Amino acid sequence: MKKKILIEYQEFTLATQLQDKEKELLDRAIEAADNAYSPFSKFSVGAAARLSTGEILTAANQESEAFPSGLCAERTLIFYVMANYPKSAIQSIAIAAKRDGKLTDEPTRPCGACVQVMLDAQNRGGEPMSIILGGKEKIEVISSINDLLPFSFDNLK
Ligand code: THU
Repeated sequence: MKKKILIEYQEFTLATQLQDKEKELLDRAIEAADNAYSPFSKFSVGAAARLSTGEILTAANQESEAFPSGLCAERTLIFYVMANYPKSAIQSIAIAAKRDGKLTDEPTRPCGACVQVMLDAQNRGGEPMSIILGGKEKIEVISSINDLLPFSFDNLK
C-alpha cells in the first residue's frame, strides 16, 4: 500500500503578519545571529526559544579552529536549555540566519541533526514545539516538530 505524508505549515511574506509573540521571538533570533562565531562558513545563524515559563533564551552557531567541529545555533540553544532548565518545555523556537550581516532572503531550515534534537526536546517537554523560520522575503511557521520529522526515531516509545 502506498502512503503519503502531508506536511502542514504557514507561509508569510511580512513579519507583521505574525502574532506578536512569534514576531518577538523571531526578532530575538535575528539579533542572536550577531553572536555567531562563523569565520569558516561566514554563515551566522541565530536561534531563540520561548520556554513554558515565558522566558526567552537565545544562541548562535559556534565554529572551531578544528573545523568542522562546532555546533549549529539550534543545538547550542537546545542543549543549553535542557542542561539548565530541565523542567521547562520549549514552546516555540525561531531561527534566522545572516550573510555579511544581512538577514537571508529565504528562511533557514534546520539541519537533520538539529531536527532530531528538537524532536527529543519536544518529547521531553511533552507539548508541541512550534518553529518559526524567518527570511527577509518569506517566513514559515510550523506548529510541531513532528511536521519536520514525521518518520522519526524514538527509542523511548
Ligand atoms: N548552521 C546552523 O547553525 N543551523 C542550521 O540550521 C544550519 C547550519 C550552521 C552550521 C555552520 O556553522 C554554518 O551554519 C554553515 O553550515
